Amino acid sequence: MPIKVIVGAQWGDEGKGKITDIFAKNSDVVIRAQGGNNAGHTIEIENKTYKLHLVPSGIFNSETICIISAGVVINLKTLISEIESLNKQNILTNNLFIDPRAHLVMPYHIRFDEIFEKLNETNIGTTKNGIGPAYMDKSERSGFRVCDLICEKNFIVKLKEKIAIKNKILKIIYKENLLDEKNILDEYLNYARKIRGYIKDTVNIIHENIKLEKNILFEGAQGALLDINYGTYPYVTSSNSISGGACVGSGIGPTMVDECIGVAKAYVTRIGNGPFPTELNDDIGVLLQSKGNEYGVTTGRLRRCGWFDSVAMKYSAKINGFTSLALNKIDILNGIDPLKICVGYEFKNEILYDFPAITEDLYNCKPIYKEMSGWSEDIANVRNYSELPLNARKYIEEIGKLCCVQINIIGVGPNRKQNIVKKS
Ligand code: GDP
Ligand code: IMO
Ligand code: MG
Repeated sequence: MPIKVIVGAQWGDEGKGKITDIFAKNSDVVIRAQGGNNAGHTIEIENKTYKLHLVPSGIFNSETICIISAGVVINLKTLISEIESLNKQNILTNNLFIDPRAHLVMPYHIRFDEIFEKLNETNIGTTKNGIGPAYMDKSERSGFRVCDLICEKNFIVKLKEKIAIKNKILKIIYKENLLDEKNILDEYLNYARKIRGYIKDTVNIIHENIKLEKNILFEGAQGALLDINYGTYPYVTSSNSISGGACVGSGIGPTMVDECIGVAKAYVTRIGNGPFPTELNDDIGVLLQSKGNEYGVTTGRLRRCGWFDSVAMKYSAKINGFTSLALNKIDILNGIDPLKICVGYEFKNEILYDFPAITEDLYNCKPIYKEMSGWSEDIANVRNYSELPLNARKYIEEIGKLCCVQINIIGVGPNRKQNIVKKS
């Protein structure tokens, strides 16, 4: 029981925030271990909706320790405004800790993200939050880290150096406007003062809690198919969004993880560019977008929608090692009849049952569908599995069978109470 990893099973926005919040009630520590404010997680408590980008979704439990660990890239402006907004709503953040090893997303990263997106003909469709360029600097070993905020004198020297280098690149290579050193310095000195109190070696906090056999929960960001190694490269994010990212991003060993809960939607959505075999460019796609309110939390972009893809999900189950699945948004399928589940891909006169490793091949994969009968009943208030319409149960069971994964949680609405828990 003690260490659970919650991970997006598709291309993000599966409802990880909601599932994390549910488990956080019984967790002593909740950790965000990768990604940055490209993530947008929604939590609905009573009649209030909260949207979080960096603060872990465990923050609504006053006793829970919330950690932003070393694998995350932090935009201080977003983080501080999130903390201030939570505090204004009487949600305390004195249990929030930020690892000194985490890297910062700086204003020049955001500028470069915008420039790369503009220059590349086959752009990725990033959130333009500077995530890729921040991880580039991290890998290049020229990044800015949270620990650099601790000593003001050194921080000023380092920041001036960095801005000078980035300005050279902006001027000579991209012929773009230069960064304003004074503005950035003022802004970041102010941020540094505000954030210093939250900095703590989170490796120690995590391991102290492991020793005490406390319940530890990882909140994944993005989805497995956006993973930098195993996703649909280059149409991916720049971190390891699969379950393994929890270990490398927080400093725990793989032997310590007990459970991995994949979170999926009962259909599929994707924001940004890249292949999406089951995408629906028809009325049903539009219906899913409007019924499902499929707009990105971070950028407000309309999400592309499609049928549930069991080939992609089987792949996701492999690379994550799911011990169970939470299937959200089954309520959105009410009234759609028939429903379709992709069971294989037709590719160059062959039938594929495994997700192709080559992204380009995915563009030429034609989904093979199994049709399932739909249901018309409103299921938003159902809390017992047996009370779901028969066809809804058949749909869920077919997904479980095709993907060889046990579905333990079924989401029937956005509220923290709108779930059917088959097994605790
Ligand atoms: P995350 O990034 O994985 O946390 O997901 P997002 O918050 O970006 O997107 C998921 C959206 O679906 C949010 O608006 C949630 O409130 C909503 N949601 C989550 N679970 C359910 C569900 O079971 N039914 C419905 N109708 N909405 C849900
Ligand atoms: P959550 O945690 C959905 C997508 C972007 C783009 C690609 C690369 O809310 O599920 P990036 O800004 O990371 O360089 O963009 O990844 N993307 C997400 N899509 N949900 C997310 O996070 C995402 N984070 C990044 O749209 O296609
Ligand atoms: Mg999201």
